[in-house]
Amino acid sequence: MPSHDPNRVIIFDTTLRDGEQSPGCSMSPPEKLRVAKALADLGVDVIEAGFPAASRGDWESVQTIAREVSGPVICGLARCNRDDIEKAYGAIKEAPRHRIHVFLATSAIHREHKLNMAKSEILKAAVEGVRLARSLVADVEFSPEDASHTELEFLAEVVSAVIAAGATTINVPDTVGYTTPQEFAEVFHYLKKHVAGIDQVVLSVHCHNDLGMAVANSLSAAGAGARQIECTINGIGERAGNCSLEEVVMALKTREAYYGLSTGIQTTRLYPTSRLVSTITGMPVPRNKAIVGENAFAHESGIHQHGMLKHHSTYEIMRPQDVGLARTNLVLGKHSGRHAFRDRVRELGYELDEADLNRAFDDFKALADKKKELFDGDIEALVLRAGGDGVGPWHIDALWTSATSGAAASAVVRLKHSDGRVVEQGATGDGPIDAAFKAIETATGTAVKLHSFEVRSVTEGEDAQGEAIVNVVHNERSYRGASISTNIIESSARAFLEVINRIQSSRPGARPAHAQLSAEAQTVQASV
Ligand code: KIV
Ligand code: ZN
Repeated sequence: MPSHDPNRVIIFDTTLRDGEQSPGCSMSPPEKLRVAKALADLGVDVIEAGFPAASRGDWESVQTIAREVSGPVICGLARCNRDDIEKAYGAIKEAPRHRIHVFLATSAIHREHKLNMAKSEILKAAVEGVRLARSLVADVEFSPEDASHTELEFLAEVVSAVIAAGATTINVPDTVGYTTPQEFAEVFHYLKKHVAGIDQVVLSVHCHNDLGMAVANSLSAAGAGARQIECTINGIGERAGNCSLEEVVMALKTREAYYGLSTGIQTTRLYPTSRLVSTITGMPVPRNKAIVGENAFAHESGIHQHGMLKHHSTYEIMRPQDVGLARTNLVLGKHSGRHAFRDRVRELGYELDEADLNRAFDDFKALADKKKELFDGDIEALVLRAGGDGVGPWHIDALWTSATSGAAASAVVRLKHSDGRVVEQGATGDGPIDAAFKAIETATGTAVKLHSFEVRSVTEGEDAQGEAIVNVVHNERSYRGASISTNIIESSARAFLEVINRIQSSRPGARPAHAQLSAEAQTVQASV
C-alpha cells in the first residue's frame, strides 16, 4: 500500500462487489477470478472481491481470489455483526494482504426506516464491529453508509469513535448519488476539522452516479483530502452505477498539474480491462462513453479531421494508446500463422496463457475458414471468450432449424448435461430463433420471461460475426447471456443456453461439478 507519498491516491476497485450487485451484472466464480486477475494487472491497490456473507458462492469466490490473485489487497465487505465479519475474515485471510470493510448506515432516513436504531445504538454497533474486525486483521475500513445524508455532527462522532476502535481507513459514501462536488468537499473539510485522529487514517470516497456526478464528486473529495477512491470498471454498479475507474484515473492523469495527485494504474490496460468486464457482464459500453467508448477517440467532422491531421493536440487531450486503444486496420486471414496471431493479441493488450492462446488460435482458424478477413474486433472477441470456462452444466451438442415464410418455424436441439444426460427436444415458434429458445426451455425444464434480445455485428462486412445478447427474468431476478458466431441462430441459441446455465448454477444447492467445498464454505451455505 502506498503510504509514503502523500499525493498518491489509492485505487479501490469494487467492480466485483458493488458493480456485480447491479441487475444483470452477476458473474460466475471463474469469471470473477478472471476479472480479479485483470484488475491486478491493471494495478489497482485494493480489490473488493465480494460480500462473503451474502451467499456460499460469494464466500467461495472471495476465498478463491484471496488465494490466487497476488498484488492488491483483497477486501471483503461485512455488515456490523459478528457473523458477517467472521465470514469475511474466513474468506480473505489467505491473501498475503487483506482487509475487512465494515459498514453501517448512519443517516436519519436509514436509522429510522431501515434499521430502526437510535443514534446511540448505531454508535455502539459501529464500534463493536470495528473492534471485532480489528481483532482479526490489521487493515479495517469503516463506511458510514449514506454519509452524505447524515447530520455532520453525528457523522463526526461515529467516525471519531470507529477510529478510536481501530479503523485504518474511513470511507465516506454518497450512497444515493445525491451530493454535489462543492458540498461533498465541505463534508471532508468538516471531518478533518472535527474528528480526532483523522490524520492517522486514510480518508476514502465512494460515489454513486444518480445525478451523473460520481466522478466529479470523487475528484472534489480527493481535492479535499481523500486519498482512496472507490470505483468500478465502466462505472457499473447499483442503479446509475459507481464512479468510473477509467474516468477518474484519466482525469487525475490528464490534469495532474491541476490536482497534483497520482495513481498506480497502468493506464494502457484500461481499454482491454473495460472490454473484458463488458463482455463478462454483458453490459455494453455506450459508444460515447468517456475514455473507453467506441467514439471516445473518433473524429468525424471535417474541421476536426483537418485539425487532427495538422496536430493531434488540436482535438485530443489524451492519446488513444495511453488508454490501451491499439486498433489498426490490419487484417488477418486463414494464412496467418500462430506468431502473427499472438503478436496481434498482445498488441491489442491481452495476455493469454498457453492453453487459452491455443484455444483462441484454434477458434481463429475455424473462423478464418468461414470469414475471409479477420479484423481487430474479431480477434478481440475470440480472445475475450478464450478464458471463459462456460458457466456450466448444459452444452449444445447439435442444433437443427428450418423456416419457411408464412409457416411456423421449427427447431430441434440436442443438449448434453455435465452429469452425462443427453436430451433431444423439438419445438415450433415464430421464426427459428424463437423455436430454438422454446426447445431449450423444454429440454432444460427452465421457463424464463424474455426481457430483451439483440444481435449486433462485431465488425464490418457481410460475413461479420454476430454477437447475440439475451436478457431474461426468472423468479424476479435478471440474468443475461451472450455468444458470438458468424451464424446468428447459433449465437442466439448459445446465448439463451448461457442464461439457463446461469439460472441453474445460481440455485441454492447447485454447485460446480469440479468444486470441492471447504468446511467453512459449507457453514456459509448452511447459514445464509
Ligand atoms: O454505496 C454504499 O454506501 C456502499 C457501502 C457499502 C460502502 O456501497
Ligand atoms: Zn455503493
